[in-house]
Amino acid sequence: MTETAYLDEPSATIKLHDDAAFAGMRVAGRLAARVLDMLVPHVVPEAVTGDLDLLVQDFVRAEGAVPATIFYRGYAHASCISVNHVVCHGIPGAKRLKDGDIVNIDVTVVVDGWHGDTSRMYLVGDVPLKARRLVDVTWDCLQHGIAAARPGNTFGDIGHAIQTLAERQRCAVVRDFCGHGVGRVFHDAPNVVHVGKPGKGPVLRPGMIFTIEPMINLGRAEVKLLDDGWTAVTRDRSLSAQFEHSVGITDTGCEVFTTSPAGLGHPPYVAA
Ligand code: MF3
Ligand code: CO
Ligand code: CO
Repeated sequence: MTETAYLDEPSATIKLHDDAAFAGMRVAGRLAARVLDMLVPHVVPEAVTGDLDLLVQDFVRAEGAVPATIFYRGYAHASCISVNHVVCHGIPGAKRLKDGDIVNIDVTVVVDGWHGDTSRMYLVGDVPLKARRLVDVTWDCLQHGIAAARPGNTFGDIGHAIQTLAERQRCAVVRDFCGHGVGRVFHDAPNVVHVGKPGKGPVLRPGMIFTIEPMINLGRAEVKLLDDGWTAVTRDRSLSAQFEHSVGITDTGCEVFTTSPAGLGHPPYVAA
């Protein structure tokens, strides 16, 4: 995600993509979603986050694609793996997952120049009810944001839909990171803020392609950046969750490019 600028961007600065772009995003988005599907059986207690990242790298390269995040502003990994109170941009490494963790894995793949950007939550073993509830609320937030993504609505409508749902559930929406235009450019205009007021912000038009990727906290909204320069955590160390889809505005609504082909869009991924 990109760091928030709170300025309203004029619709004119937002690219309107053609059918070829939608075709390219469909392919890139589907591969990104398949990466997250592939990971499902591997996100278990004792799994090492650096090993999960290597699985992502190998899978992406075997498909003839490229991880967008390697060499991106000095980032060196194919995924971001954000555990528990990590909001986003967790760096894969020696960390081992443990029973009860909630984990976001975020991947972006480049296929023929198009960026497929998506993330999902995973439940590690037996996860406490409060944490599962946060994951469910965050999934609902993304779905409500997507439902508001249609021509004639505004970006403020998307943010409002997400914010209303999160706050009704006594959760907080992270302000410091947001979604973004996506396509041949990884992080393009506009910033897609996950809070907002109805009717505010640029009007959504067919051809706009962007991510919606709400980060929702059980406690307060504030985040802080760790000394590694990437890892963002909740200031109050409360749990944080996130789901991300890449979407394109159509004549009647929106197309989600990163839907799980395996039907593994949100946890639990196996019958309890
Ligand atoms: N995939 C993230 C997003 O949703 C961006 C990660 S950039 C990285 O926009 F360098 F941290 F990997
Ligand atoms: Co993104
Ligand atoms: Co992402």
